[in-house]
Amino acid sequence: MNTSLLHLHAPDHWINDPNGFLYYQREYHLFYQYFPYADAWGTMHWGHAVSRDLVHWEHKGIALFPTIREDQNGCFSGCAVEQEGDMVLFYTGVRYLTPNPRNIHVSLDGKMESNQLTIRSADGFAFDNWAGKKVVISAITDPAVGDVSDTRDPKVWKGKHGWYLLLGSTVNRQGRVLLYESKDLIHWEYRSQAGLEDSRYGWMWECPNYVEAPGGEVLLVSAMDFCPENQKPDSVVACFPVHFSEASGTMKISPQYQLLDYGRDLYAPQTTLDAQGLPVLVAWVRMPTPTEEGWIGMFSAPRRVQVREGHVSFSLHPNIRQACSCPISHPSQAFSAGYRVECSLKEGEWVNLGGFEIACRDGRICTDRTKVYPQQGVGPLLCQTPMLNRFEIEVLVEDHLVEVFVNDGEYTITNAVYGLHRDWSGNLSGTISFFTGKEE
Ligand code: FRU
Repeated sequence: MNTSLLHLHAPDHWINDPNGFLYYQREYHLFYQYFPYADAWGTMHWGHAVSRDLVHWEHKGIALFPTIREDQNGCFSGCAVEQEGDMVLFYTGVRYLTPNPRNIHVSLDGKMESNQLTIRSADGFAFDNWAGKKVVISAITDPAVGDVSDTRDPKVWKGKHGWYLLLGSTVNRQGRVLLYESKDLIHWEYRSQAGLEDSRYGWMWECPNYVEAPGGEVLLVSAMDFCPENQKPDSVVACFPVHFSEASGTMKISPQYQLLDYGRDLYAPQTTLDAQGLPVLVAWVRMPTPTEEGWIGMFSAPRRVQVREGHVSFSLHPNIRQACSCPISHPSQAFSAGYRVECSLKEGEWVNLGGFEIACRDGRICTDRTKVYPQQGVGPLLCQTPMLNRFEIEVLVEDHLVEVFVNDGEYTITNAVYGLHRDWSGNLSGTISFFTGKEE
């Protein structure tokens, strides 16, 4: 199948992070980390998909693949910007330092050289992988600045006085972001690094993403082995309030973090500005096993990012809501892509959507996917939001994905699921409404 609706999943085999998310020449371009040969992570390519509305997605094949010494073991994550009508991609090229004789697609010991590269295209589709790649930031050699192996995932944006680029890295086993500046997108000057002097926030920060959202500035990082509040270390996406100063070339991070999502499956999010000029985010949903159709890896439905009274909210993008707004009386009447639910829960109430349970308990929204997730799966079965005082729920339910938006994205719980059925039950005092889209 070459198209998908409401959210994007792997065309076949394996995908992970979204890359190069950009609204360019009236289309959304979304690239992704892709291993086209097996249902597991391996030498990274960039797959490519496009959409006119963030709802209908069409796969366009492979955009980037390893060709030169600097990216011989993979084209890792990165971003896209527009300059003078061209689409300009930035990504991390990796080269393993120890050859792996048994499987060239994975590293033996995690030791690699990571360079930052760029490649451009006049139309967003044709990329000259053979002659068009340029190294713009060479592998880090000073451990006080960053790590030679673990420095990656460039995110570029345009400021008032120039272009800025963030890299994820690690110094002294603590996550860091490295900030660079450029006038022309080719010559980059290192300006500063930022982090929190505390290893509980993860030993390495991947996929940094700076967002100037309505209401505030936010830094999203995918933090490896994040473990504040004595929890079990887990790689999760943390959002920090930040202040970026172009004048001093610094980013000041404040430690009042919140999580991107309380379902623990989302990782490596990326934002761009939508057709309305507002930030929109997609993230990788980690899956434990391939689906029956033989693909593994998908993205969350696009979400709007905004800061309300100091809190970052991630609400379902209005295009998705609009595409899924035909009232139905039961989920069995939904079109093949899935359905949307609206209801309000009170303490002690619950709803079961095809085996996935959502309850309001002890002032929180709690979810349970025990019946629709493999027992050997890596993600948690039970999830919950922090304490709340309102419980307005909107849920997007698809074959392999349930996305719960609480109070219009004040908190979200996103979970991969398997074997969901189209039935529901519940103990609710209020009404529950179901909506679907149109079969095309
Ligand atoms: C995050 C990540 C990135 C890296 C990519 C490789 O999931 O580890 O840091 O660029 O995946 O596929």
